[in-house]
Amino acid sequence: MTATPRPAVLIIIGVTGDLSRRYLLPAIEQIAAAGALPSRFHVLGTTRRTTSHKTLVRELFGPESYLAEHFEVVQLDVTDRASYVALKDRLDRIDKTLTEPAQRLFYLSVPPQVSWPVIEMLGEVGLNDRTTVKLLLEKPFGTDLASADNLLSHIDRHFDETQIYRIDHYLAKEMAQNLLVFRQSNPLLGHTWHGEFVERIDIRISESIDIEGRGNFYEQTGALRDVMQSHGLQLAALTLMKAQDGPLSDVPARRVEALKSLHLTESSLDDMAVRGQYIGYRAETDNPASTTETYVAITLRSSDPLWHNVPIRIATGKALPTKETSVCLTYRSATGQQPNRLTLRIQPDAGIELELWSKAPGYERRLEQHRLRFHYHERYQSLPDAYEQVLLDAIRSDHTLFTSGDEVRESWRILDQLQKAWSFRVDDLIFYEKGSDPLREAEHHSQQAEP
Ligand code: BG6
Repeated sequence: MTATPRPAVLIIIGVTGDLSRRYLLPAIEQIAAAGALPSRFHVLGTTRRTTSHKTLVRELFGPESYLAEHFEVVQLDVTDRASYVALKDRLDRIDKTLTEPAQRLFYLSVPPQVSWPVIEMLGEVGLNDRTTVKLLLEKPFGTDLASADNLLSHIDRHFDETQIYRIDHYLAKEMAQNLLVFRQSNPLLGHTWHGEFVERIDIRISESIDIEGRGNFYEQTGALRDVMQSHGLQLAALTLMKAQDGPLSDVPARRVEALKSLHLTESSLDDMAVRGQYIGYRAETDNPASTTETYVAITLRSSDPLWHNVPIRIATGKALPTKETSVCLTYRSATGQQPNRLTLRIQPDAGIELELWSKAPGYERRLEQHRLRFHYHERYQSLPDAYEQVLLDAIRSDHTLFTSGDEVRESWRILDQLQKAWSFRVDDLIFYEKGSDPLREAEHHSQQAEP
């Protein structure tokens, strides 16, 4: 891999947080090991309290690591202007050691209420220069259409859209990228990828973990805002977007176009969505009356003639029987015929499977099902983590795998009607045992009270 030439400084605001320790810093180590970082690269992590970078890096990677040499920690009070002026001085001093000014990538690894003042302060002290500064933002981007609009305008006041890299790490997962590549590269799939052949689409993002002690966060979020609005709808956009050959820079616009065509089925609330909460959630969050959903399934339709009459079902939740992210296309079949299914398994065990029917050997005419499979793990020891791709693409100024402001708006628009309906009633909330399938419970008990 060739190294990116332009010098870069990655400034992680909130470097001691979980995201940074678990994903960002390990991703840097991996990209460095692959030789893909710019030859002049430095990481500057900010914290509220002083922490020695040596302690942090030694804890995580050991003294021989790339970051042991290329990382420093600076103290930053996110609401104090003087802290940003000091940060700017430090960055200017780094520039003086270089032959050209470094690009400055600000990664905001902080809660949403903290991002707001950080963006403002960066703008106020001039750390928003269009030619050198990039802003990397993590979801959530608002909690509904109105708040997302508000947040987007706040960011627009200080930064240009070309400087912004909104991260949805699902877009950067290897198999999610394949949703497009498979169609573009395999005519068999490309030619049959529309409603004339496809009867329904099922997208599943199930997690076996529960909320893992993140009660405060989850109480304000729920499955709809946490995963459906972002990862769920992005997988739908990747599945439905036009796959014609064209510049990669068009991909975000094609995802927006796909999102624009999507709407919830408009009959009753019960047809629109199923929501559930796992039993025990209320005790974990210490809120005996909580109505926050830990599971949600929605059914969408597209106004694109190519997808006319194809239901798109997306389901996501915590404490489900398995961890599984997949996109499954069920093909149309004649009466009495068994359907074929194509499943793109995004994780775990990334790969693709096609269900086919054949004659079972023997004297009778009996059908049996077979699966043609391709699994990455049979060929590769490991796949790059999505955060490696995200960081490298931001360094290279490639926006393909980032969410645009228009995508954020459209995804909230799709869910707006449902959020409004939910604000008036809770009697549709079902309760499910940890490790069980809430959809099955919804079918069997149209409503069940929490014991
Ligand atoms: C995050 C959600 O965006 O995605 C988490 O906030 C969720 O609640 C996580 O657990 C799932 O990501 P992954 O990559 O583990 O499937």
